[in-house]
Amino acid sequence: MIKRKWFVVIGAALALNSAWIGPSLSGTILGTKHDFTGLNARAGVVAMSGVAFSDYGSPCVYCHIPPDKTTPSGTDPAQSIEDAIKQGAALGGNPSWNRFLPDPDSYNLYDSRSLENKVRTPSPISLLCLSCHDGTMALDMTVFKPNGWNSSEDAALHVRLNGGDDLMSCGKCHNGKVAHSIEIKHLGTDLRNDHPISMQYAGLNQKDADFWAPDSPYGFDNGVKLYDGKVECATCHNVHDPDINLLLRATSDRLCETCHIK
Ligand code: HEC
Ligand code: HEC
Ligand code: HEC
Ligand code: HEC
Ligand code: HEC
Repeated sequence: MIKRKWFVVIGAALALNSAWIGPSLSGTILGTKHDFTGLNARAGVVAMSGVAFSDYGSPCVYCHIPPDKTTPSGTDPAQSIEDAIKQGAALGGNPSWNRFLPDPDSYNLYDSRSLENKVRTPSPISLLCLSCHDGTMALDMTVFKPNGWNSSEDAALHVRLNGGDDLMSCGKCHNGKVAHSIEIKHLGTDLRNDHPISMQYAGLNQKDADFWAPDSPYGFDNGVKLYDGKVECATCHNVHDPDINLLLRATSDRLCETCHIK
């Protein structure tokens, strides 16, 4: 199964890199907007980590299960990865990620009369993104904290990625006056204005004349990726590759025509 192989890859990659500045691919998260622990150095302020959210010492653990949970010394890494995922799932975690699953039924997904593959709930890989981008859960609300992180270092605030003006929201400061506005990165739970997600890709098996066939079951040669044949947030975005603006997998003029014919 692909998923299982993938866990092992992550575990192995993280385990090999105790400094967590991993393979060239993963290192590229550093310096991007998902590099939360790098904020202070880059922005030159101490407004964020330790105050607005807890600093776990590594940018990876806000999404990935910390390697010290998956590879305790002397155990079979594959086995312990399974254990960590089971343990995480029992706590309400999104399988294989260090984030909790938001309520999948809380979303209004895109719909229209012409949309063929209607979907009611987002898949787990998109719920990963939505666990921050819908603004309902705190940025630092992870399933596991890394070993060695002491709860006495817990931040005073655990703010959520939303534009609100209350003390629980990044928008308290990120209102375009104190700091850059965060509003547009907050998608909310109403996704009817966003591109449809979690539907089967209509171009599979030359099913639909309006869509190109993918180059492989995993997607397109330009990097646009399918997950179990479906379109997800990470189909168009690669949080590990900042080369293209807004972490897109193809420049915005080419992205749409990767799939849509005309
Ligand atoms: C914002 C969430 C997020 C953060 C933070 C993050 N990752 Fe990832 N990572 C992902 C996603 C999503 C994928 C799957 C990408 C895909 O399917 O192409 C992934 C995939 C990976 C993979 C597997 C690569 C592959 O070929 O499938 C590795 C290894 C990895 N990440 C390591 C790291 C490391 C090391 C860090 C910290 C420097 C990190 N990640 C930070 C979300 C994140
Ligand atoms: C742990 C919380 C978290 C998770 C999980 C997360 N993000 Fe983000 N994301 C953020 C924050 C915080 C920002 C920066 C907001 C700002 O400063 O304006 C951001 C910014 C972005 C941006 C804008 C980047 C830019 O350069 O302006 C994109 C695109 C994005 N995220 C996509 C994703 C996708 C796709 C996923 C899932 C694979 C994901 N995010 C998962 C928290 C998260
Ligand atoms: C106490 C005020 C305050 C709070 C709360 C706050 N920030 Fe910030 N943030 C700032 C300031 C000031 C800067 C530096 C100026 C700027 O980048 O606009 C900054 C910078 C950033 C940057 C780096 C900007 C860049 O483009 O490199 C990101 C990303 C960020 N904040 C995300 C967040 C997120 C996500 C939250 C909520 C979890 C948050 N901040 C909460 C004040 C705050
Ligand atoms: C079909 C491709 C596609 C899918 C699927 C997709 N996006 Fe995007 N996303 C884009 C494009 C293109 C942009 C830039 C233009 C725009 O803002 O519409 C963007 C912009 C963004 C931004 C930055 C907004 C800004 O202007 O700063 C965030 C954050 C984001 N997407 C997150 C997500 C999340 C989370 C999901 C899944 C719920 C998702 N995207 C699904 C293509 C996509
Ligand atoms: C990974 C392939 C893929 C990419 C890339 C992609 N789309 Fe789509 N798009 C789809 C699929 C699949 C559907 C749903 C088709 C169906 O089931 O009827 C869809 C549906 C849509 C719809 C709704 C159509 C309707 O019938 O209601 C719009 C609008 C749209 N896409 C615009 C865009 C734009 C603009 C871009 C570029 C930013 C883009 N798409 C990129 C695959 C893609």
